[in-house]
Amino acid sequence: MEKSALQKERAAYQPKLPKALNGAVKVKEGAPTQSVDNQEEIKNLFPNTYGMPVVEFVESDEPNNKRINVGVILSGGQAPGGHNVITGLFDQIKKLNPENRLYGFILGPNGLVEHDYMELTKEIVDDYRNTGGFDMIGSGRTKLEEEDQFEKGLEILRELDIKALVIIGGDDSNTNACVLAEYYAAKNCGVQVIGCPKTIDGDLKNEQIETSFGFDTATKTYSELIGNIERDCNSARKYWHFIKVMGRSASHIALECALQCQPNVCIISEEVEKNDMTLNQIVDNLCQVIAFRASQGNHFGTVIVPEGLIEFIPAIGRLIQELNDLLAAHGAEYKDLDADAQREYIIAHLSKENAATFETLPADVARQLSLDRDPHGNVQVSLIETEKLLSDMCAAKLEKWKAEGKFVGNFAAQHHFFGYEGRCAAPSNFDADYCYALGTSAAQLIANGKTGYMAIVKNTTRPAEEWVAGGVPITMMMNMERRNGKMKPVIRKALVDLDGNPFKTFVGCRDRWAKETCYVYPGPIQYWGPSEVCDQPTKTLALEHVK
Ligand code: FBP
Repeated sequence: MEKSALQKERAAYQPKLPKALNGAVKVKEGAPTQSVDNQEEIKNLFPNTYGMPVVEFVESDEPNNKRINVGVILSGGQAPGGHNVITGLFDQIKKLNPENRLYGFILGPNGLVEHDYMELTKEIVDDYRNTGGFDMIGSGRTKLEEEDQFEKGLEILRELDIKALVIIGGDDSNTNACVLAEYYAAKNCGVQVIGCPKTIDGDLKNEQIETSFGFDTATKTYSELIGNIERDCNSARKYWHFIKVMGRSASHIALECALQCQPNVCIISEEVEKNDMTLNQIVDNLCQVIAFRASQGNHFGTVIVPEGLIEFIPAIGRLIQELNDLLAAHGAEYKDLDADAQREYIIAHLSKENAATFETLPADVARQLSLDRDPHGNVQVSLIETEKLLSDMCAAKLEKWKAEGKFVGNFAAQHHFFGYEGRCAAPSNFDADYCYALGTSAAQLIANGKTGYMAIVKNTTRPAEEWVAGGVPITMMMNMERRNGKMKPVIRKALVDLDGNPFKTFVGCRDRWAKETCYVYPGPIQYWGPSEVCDQPTKTLALEHVK
């Protein structure tokens, strides 16, 4: 593999670890835990892994030389730092006992089921230190939920003498990790399962998980690009840029980029839902800003649109819920119809209110909502061009306002979608360190006999030496939710907290950002140089930690 100059230099970077993880550790156990909701149901579904305590690693005098082979799976969307979780895991299990082996399952959970794997040797692992991407072993979105998948997995785990499996994934994948941990515990298979919190979306967080890895690098990458666009926009002064950013459900990415770049408008889906806003109201608000700026002679601006917006517009959200159930129940008879017949079929089967919403949507958006869900039952929102939809609707409304004398000026739009551009960026110092510490913690959870836990690292706005590492029982984050037409135990997603400091800070500034031009240009991620430039956590994390 030919390497860039940056890759060569970056390979030598030694990620920093929390002080306690530098040597031998033991676990300090907290009080028993409960799930965030539906305690009885979750307890019944997870009798072997429910109620365990949160654990923290503390230094120990007794070395642990546990002999254990470990398997690792990368699951779901790519996020910067995944390779460092693997290198941290590898280094730690080898430190425990040089005989220990690490096996990577290829292309996600499917590799476990299909027995597609490779041994990760020092030579391989060294090639990927501090790099972006998941290409060391690949990733996939296969959902592990059927008993025969667990049994097929067990066959290869036994064959390779693997006693612990680490699943690096988002909320859905860690839900799977928990189900698998419970299954193997119930059957006394002697296989531990540990999760790691990954997702650029930033929605796998709670009191115990301060942030999911990848969010830091991805938002810094998008913010660099948004800043560049803002500067272009402020130079040419002739376009409105509609910039959609990833984040399937929650608007954490949009909010973080707004805090970093100070655009004229940033829509937050959670606020749209809370205020029961319609698409038309969102467009109306945008047009007010565009018209005001035009009245000041500013025929330009930037708008950040969160990818998940469409599902949070309450009327459309209700429609999607019913569509999910409809497609889950009637999938087979619906699948073979042509596109027009599918549209007719949906309108005929939906409730009156939802059919009316469906009919008012632009044809391509309606079509996207009626296509296949991903294996976890999610609408593939990244394929819906919300940025285009909003700017088209603004253009139509502004045309009308022009005729009524309410808008004087020009409106020309450019569109962007930033998602895949940031998911495999070379991890920032924060993500490089955080991921390496997560991998190391995962290895220590294994060495300390834990299963059904997610590796955690806390105190992350402090220097890495002061970080606190440990594990949290996955059942603690679970509740029951409707998926594919059925109630399922799942990890509760963290949406943007409208009472939280990051959102409130944004609200305190947004009117000024809309009227004036207050752009900030963050520039590219830096790996070497002054600490204020290289080692800052995200604004979201910093604001969440302000007491
Ligand atoms: P994960 O939740 O698996 O980390 O993935 C998040 C994400 O990047 C979303 O932001 C986006 O909607 C989705 O993946 C895109 O999925 P795909 O890579 O399958 O197109």
